[in-house]
Amino acid sequence: MKVLIYDDAERAVVSAADQLVAVLETKPDAVFGLATGGTMLPLYQRLVELHRDGRASFGKASTFNLDEYIGIAPDHACSYHTYMREVLFKHIDIDPSRTHLPRGDCADCVAEAARYEALIAASGGIDFQLVGIGQNGHIGFNEPTSSLSSLTRIKTLTEDTRRANARYFDNPEDIPKYALTMGVGSILATRRCLLLATGVTKARAVAAMVEGPISAACPASALQLHPKATIVLDRDAAAELELTEYYQHVHPKGAESVWN
Ligand code: F6R
Repeated sequence: MKVLIYDDAERAVVSAADQLVAVLETKPDAVFGLATGGTMLPLYQRLVELHRDGRASFGKASTFNLDEYIGIAPDHACSYHTYMREVLFKHIDIDPSRTHLPRGDCADCVAEAARYEALIAASGGIDFQLVGIGQNGHIGFNEPTSSLSSLTRIKTLTEDTRRANARYFDNPEDIPKYALTMGVGSILATRRCLLLATGVTKARAVAAMVEGPISAACPASALQLHPKATIVLDRDAAAELELTEYYQHVHPKGAESVWN
């Protein structure tokens, strides 16, 4: 695992965006795995700015999002389809037909999960996966105790996760109870993975992910098994790490090591 610690969230976001754009530069038709949530908002804003400045073209790229709520149609204001359209897709030159999310309004969600996983495989697999982390250590909607080899499937959301997402819904009873999510195994199968975490509320989960045992109790800890995982943090999210001195020694203020 490569652990990059930046002085503040803004620098962490700039680094994550630069790493994603560098992939586009070497492989314009790259397949990206994308995440939603509050952490990703400034990152997508940065990508939009880079696109507007002529420094990033998504014309040949494809995307697969990690997850979508079950029971929520793509045009619902709180769907992740809407989030991605409003925050990123409509502001960049991506071909909408090459953007993919699981359908939350599925009649047969088991079949939808299998279809989605097959579509990722048919695209040649994900070159660069963007991931956020929940306070309980979830990645995608793989809640604690998720199988570390799971593929896309239906997951029941924890009450913690439902509470964390309550701010997006007018009525508490509208907060979905289930989601379709790429599995931990689907994330481990990606060629490269970047997890972005900012803010002190993520510090405990980040420490468990990076320095704790590999355990389904903290699904993000499975990233220790990923051959090419980069963890991009601000100082607050890194606050509970014990080996910070070492990470800073290898990557001072998030700089590349001398071997890169
Ligand atoms: C969303 C997703 C989730 C979030 C996580 C953090 O697509 O995959 O795992 O990344 O819940 O969310 P925020 O950034 O809102 O704290």
